[in-house]
Amino acid sequence: MKFTTLITLCILFHFSKHTLSTITTTTTTLEENFKEAPKFYNSPTCTIITNHTCSIEAVHVAMTLDVSYIRGSMAAILSILQHSSCPENIIFHFITSSSKPSTVLNRIITNSFPYLKYQIYPFNDAPVAGLISTSIRSALDCPLNYARTYLADILPICLPKVVYLDSDLILVDDIAKLAATPLRSNTVLAAPEYCNANFSIYFTPSFWSNPSLSLTFANREACYFNTGVMVIDLQRWRSAQSTSNLEATSLKDQSIEVFTKAPDPA
Ligand SMILES: *[C@@H]1O[C@H](CO)[C@@H](O)[C@H](O)[C@H]1NC(C)=O
Ligand SMILES: *[C@@H]1O[C@H](CO)[C@@H](O)[C@H](O)[C@H]1NC(C)=O
Repeated sequence: MKFTTLITLCILFHFSKHTLSTITTTTTTLEENFKEAPKFYNSPTCTIITNHTCSIEAVHVAMTLDVSYIRGSMAAILSILQHSSCPENIIFHFITSSSKPSTVLNRIITNSFPYLKYQIYPFNDAPVAGLISTSIRSALDCPLNYARTYLADILPICLPKVVYLDSDLILVDDIAKLAATPLRSNTVLAAPEYCNANFSIYFTPSFWSNPSLSLTFANREACYFNTGVMVIDLQRWRSAQSTSNLEATSLKDQSIEVFTKAPDPA
């Protein structure tokens, strides 16, 4: 499971790089381009929440925020609010890179969503750099990709649960349903799983010819899960020390190239 997570991350980096190269708009025009969204109101059946901080009744959504992907994020936020029965009960937790100022991002969000309940958390991505295998070094172009692994550390300790969403998706149903995804006992997160991928192409011949590595797949159904949509039980994540477990599997000390350049499985 830990191992397959890494494979998924590798695939995601590929997409991200691709997206990055197609967006050339400057910050100034970006700010001017977004209109103000209307206020979205709770329906009468919604729970009235007086204190949203860490409320278990609220839906907490975590997303990364970066100038390069801001269009996607804006569309995602709007789609979440539009399809929610209780939009006023949604709290957004935005992770930004601490190496870039978040002033512009903050202004874009406030201008377009003046009624949004949100908080911005700067993520220090520098320490993550040392954990990345050299074969996927190009993934460092998008260090915020790693933020999803550190949510339990970044978000307030009192936050029990969070829905993590990538900034390149549109919701077409109530996010409260997604947030209510039941997690089996001892399960840290829920995410869409794929078991029909052909893993041969994601790893190099050196990987497959080295039994200590390739035996990872022996007698197992090779599956990966998409980390772009996750419902995370933060309390279980913290008590299972999942962050350090993931760091330990990052293969940083492998002396051979393990990953191929992930092909686009579209
Ligand atoms: C709201 O709830 C949080 C977390 O339970 C608590 O720390 C904070 O003091 C509360 N704020 C108010 C105004 O009651
Ligand atoms: C997986 O891909 C490899 C290399 O492209 C190919 O040789 C192999 O037959 C494929 N396996 C399946 C089950 O499709």
